[in-house]
Amino acid sequence: MKKGEKPFVLGLLGDGQLAQMTALAARSLGMKTHVFASSRENPAAFVADEVTLGDLADEKALVAFAKSVDALTYDTENLPYETICQAAAHAPAYPDPNVLHIAQHRIRERTFLSSLGVPIPNVAYVTSEEQCQHAAHSFTFPGVLKTAAFGYDGKGQRVVREAGALRTAWRDLGEQPCVLEAFVDFEREMSVIVARAQTGEMQTFGVIDNEHRNHILHASVSPSSLPSSVKQEAQRIAQTIAASLDLVGLLAVEMFATTDGRVLVNELAPRPHNSGHVTQRANALSQFHKLCLAASGQALGEIDARPGVMINLLGDLFPKGTKPVYRHVGFLEPPLTVASGATISTYFYGKKEARNGRKMGHLIAVADTVEKAYEAAAHAYQMYVHAATAAGGVRV
Ligand SMILES: Nc1ncnc2c1ncn2[C@@H]1O[C@H](COP(=O)(O)OP(=O)(O)O)[C@@H](O)[C@H]1O
Ligand SMILES: [Mg+2]
Repeated sequence: MKKGEKPFVLGLLGDGQLAQMTALAARSLGMKTHVFASSRENPAAFVADEVTLGDLADEKALVAFAKSVDALTYDTENLPYETICQAAAHAPAYPDPNVLHIAQHRIRERTFLSSLGVPIPNVAYVTSEEQCQHAAHSFTFPGVLKTAAFGYDGKGQRVVREAGALRTAWRDLGEQPCVLEAFVDFEREMSVIVARAQTGEMQTFGVIDNEHRNHILHASVSPSSLPSSVKQEAQRIAQTIAASLDLVGLLAVEMFATTDGRVLVNELAPRPHNSGHVTQRANALSQFHKLCLAASGQALGEIDARPGVMINLLGDLFPKGTKPVYRHVGFLEPPLTVASGATISTYFYGKKEARNGRKMGHLIAVADTVEKAYEAAAHAYQMYVHAATAAGGVRV
């Protein structure tokens, strides 16, 4: 930014940790952020330069907010599409609301991926009694029944082992529109995060391996240890999807590598992704920086990477029934260097309440090999687990 030039103001819809980390990256790039938040207590609200409190469904408030910023981005796909379109008429939204529209509904997402010829697990749609009966007769079980909208961290999903269990599973999910997917016997879960600039310049952070526990991401490893042919295919698929959406910003593509060497797309997220937190320390510029650069019309910059491992710190680690008190929100500095030469950085989001399964922070280890990074991250995580069991919970 030249002296005397007005800083670019990025408007953030959504006020969680993804928006918080975007705001901090924006600041490091000399940009300003304005967050549309539901509470001043939420992670993005206490780091943004400006805060507007409101309800994301309030079209008038959102339009006024859009008029006050240079571009809009978001940290969740659960946003009211029509309202976002109204806001986007006053400030460009990145990614475009059409991308949001596809990613926020699993039936539209599957239809879109199939139209591109992208491989996905076998799928049937369950939106009516007739379709439910038809699927019970024709689908090859086991499967996973997922609500078409509003799922996260495995919420809104049921594993259906046999045809006879489908009707009950659908009732359990409130008879909402659902997709029934083949249960994938996967070798690995991985993600590719694509960044794409307004010029069409495209980068990825390579393939990141993901390990889930109780349907919640536990650890991410960059780079993936999958064979290079599988990684190339995963990257090709992710870039094909991003280019065909004419993406500007970020798109995370969650995938399965099957035991027989195929790559299947699981889901799309047009925003920063939990598996990309590792890029905060493993890459020269993180996913959050790339989003800010793309949204402000700049080139995507460096892509240098070191081996890194991220582990999520969930509310389960905190003392029950107490409110966490933080000395610091963001990265605890300086990072800890251990004997192997790995460095470990811990980040807390500053959430006021710890609940089981709630993402409270994460740690990232980087080293000159993935093995050293993994060992350091696992060791540091064990110290948190130990604190949680021995001392009644982590105190940060
Ligand atoms: N078809 C499937 N076969 C096997 N496991 C699955 C399947 N779909 C989802 N899962 C598991 O559940 C996790 C969460 O599912 P996902 O569709 O990504 O929903 P969300 O992340 O929105 O909760 C996945 O990361 C994976 O571990
Ligand atoms: Mg997912």
